[in-house]
Amino acid sequence: MKSEPAHRQFDLDYGLDPDKLPAHVAIIMDGNGRWAKKKLMNRVKGHEKGSETVRSIVTLSRKIGIKFLTLYAFSTENWARPKIEVVALMNLLKRFLVSERTTLKKNEIFLNIIGQKDRLPEDVMKELDITMEQTRNNEKMVLNLALSYGGREEITRAAKQIAKKAAEKIIDWETITEETLCDHLYTKNMPDPDVLIRTSGEMRLSNFMLWQMAYAEIFITKTLWPDFSEQEFINIIRDYQSRERRFGKLPCYSSDGSQQ
Ligand code: FPP
Repeated sequence: MKSEPAHRQFDLDYGLDPDKLPAHVAIIMDGNGRWAKKKLMNRVKGHEKGSETVRSIVTLSRKIGIKFLTLYAFSTENWARPKIEVVALMNLLKRFLVSERTTLKKNEIFLNIIGQKDRLPEDVMKELDITMEQTRNNEKMVLNLALSYGGREEITRAAKQIAKKAAEKIIDWETITEETLCDHLYTKNMPDPDVLIRTSGEMRLSNFMLWQMAYAEIFITKTLWPDFSEQEFINIIRDYQSRERRFGKLPCYSSDGSQQ
């Protein structure tokens, strides 16, 4: 993927190869609670500090020239957390959506949601809709927030949609391929993640993009998300560029979104 001139100098200054950028970076932002505990603070303080890291990594990804950034912000399992924490996370999210709207527009970033959008509280959904609508035509980067997201739910939902179309004779079951499934995921028309980063040292996928991670390069760092720095992100991208990737097969979409 060729990067634009504006990104090239930035990448070169930071030791990155502008012609070997990952098209899609996905992050499991873990460790907010532990960060707060270490500092004898309430868990919510960890999430607040974590949202500052979100801001800096979104801005940095855009500067580097990454086209798709997906952040795991709230899983289908997170609904089972204490109500006070769920409410605090939803409020943080709402604040983020309002405070970042101008920056997203200025930086030509499209804010997209992957997950069960309609399970979100009405006030959050309203701000989401406004931000999505106002950024819809932005083409420099897609910021996917995974909200009420679960990989198994996503695949089940796709299977149901396909089964319904087959039952209604809209599609012939014999023509169903991997591409058909890709076309019914929340990430339709997006390249699979090239890079998966998980902070806080846990070695799990935690139900995140199970289908799409088939060939992702995985980077686990012990750093807790609130402490995750721009330098560490750049180091990971540099490390990615030095890895040799041997796909056993092709991903669903190429980095320009076209089907293989
Ligand atoms: C995992 O840490 C993090 C989450 C469940 C939420 C992630 C949310 C943010 C980074 C802030 C808000 C997001 C946006 C987009 C503004 P954890 O609570 O599981 O940490 P622990 O494993 O140390 O307890």
